[in-house]
Amino acid sequence: TTVEWEAASYDMGGHDTYMHKEIHEQADAVDRVLRGRIDDRFSTVHLGGLNLDAREARQIRRVKILGCGTSYHAGQIGAQMIEELARIPADAEPASEFRYRNAVVDPDTLYVAVSQSGETYDVLAAVQELKRKGARVFGVVNVVGSAIAREADAGIYVHAGPEVCVVSTKCFTNTTVAFALLALHLGRTRDLSVRDGKRIIEGLRKLPEQITEVLKQEEEIKRLAEQYADARSMLFIGRVRGYPVAREASLKLKEVSYIHAEAYPASELKHGPLALIEPALPTVAIVPDDDLLEKNRAAMEEIKARSGRILAVAHQHEPKADETIVVPKNEDELDPILMGIPLQLLAYHTALALGRDIDKPRNLAKSVTVE
Ligand code: AGP
Repeated sequence: TTVEWEAASYDMGGHDTYMHKEIHEQADAVDRVLRGRIDDRFSTVHLGGLNLDAREARQIRRVKILGCGTSYHAGQIGAQMIEELARIPADAEPASEFRYRNAVVDPDTLYVAVSQSGETYDVLAAVQELKRKGARVFGVVNVVGSAIAREADAGIYVHAGPEVCVVSTKCFTNTTVAFALLALHLGRTRDLSVRDGKRIIEGLRKLPEQITEVLKQEEEIKRLAEQYADARSMLFIGRVRGYPVAREASLKLKEVSYIHAEAYPASELKHGPLALIEPALPTVAIVPDDDLLEKNRAAMEEIKARSGRILAVAHQHEPKADETIVVPKNEDELDPILMGIPLQLLAYHTALALGRDIDKPRNLAKSVTVE
């Protein structure tokens, strides 16, 4: 019954914290968000809750994604996927900013509200304001029947299952996968070919197994975390697809370990942050094996030339880095989904080494239902 299922999902299942449990649930969670949605015949996906026919889908001129914190970062990854796969201009903005700036609301824009809890007040208020102005609003939400899910015109459930730790991990990953599904769906109503649709579907199907591969490196990541735990500050860098991954990893580290962390586009280093580089400021570099690989390597070289220490998350060993966490390669567009996962473990083990209250970091609440 439902009651039994719910009781089982709140059980710690042998883990010491919910964060650890939820990190390890990600292969199953991704399997759930994909289940029953893939249409191999037309190399697309069925998203029953969208209520959007092909003609309406083709009328969308822009996509604007609104969320807070980790959900906002998942939205940034989603916006890039929508641009890449559907070629619709898309961007993400913190819902908390959007609602206060009297934004121009455009009838040809699809607004997407992202939220794990579905109760975040800033997101809900943005949705209500948009609807008051006649906009079409979709929800990408985890908690079924939550306020944002009810308020949205249509949407996609993220199916991550209950997330108890204040710090979001599995829901972030599942939200990025939900966005990949939306991007594929919109792409296949436009110019994304059957061949590319198939390529993305194959990539999506590989994810659960690849997540398991990443999680097998936990001992090694723990060792690294113990080395980095005495840092006072850390820099996270990435470019284009890697940048939102860097931002999310930086948020994760500061939330759970209280170490100051800052994320920067690798391309912006020379416009200021290079001044910070010294041996005491470690850099975590997101280095996917895509068309920007050489650019990322050049950024690492600049850091090394200034005696900075680098931990790379990459698809192969990176000689410029002091250490590399190697993650399995997927399709370029889907790489961000996997690259954040080892950094969840890094944040977790750093916090553990520092004796932090992992499931309930100081000053934070699981869902922020007030202004
Ligand atoms: C995640 O680790 C954070 N605790 C926080 O940024 C969170 O993502 C944000 O408050 C939004 O919550 P929501 O997804 O439930 O709307």
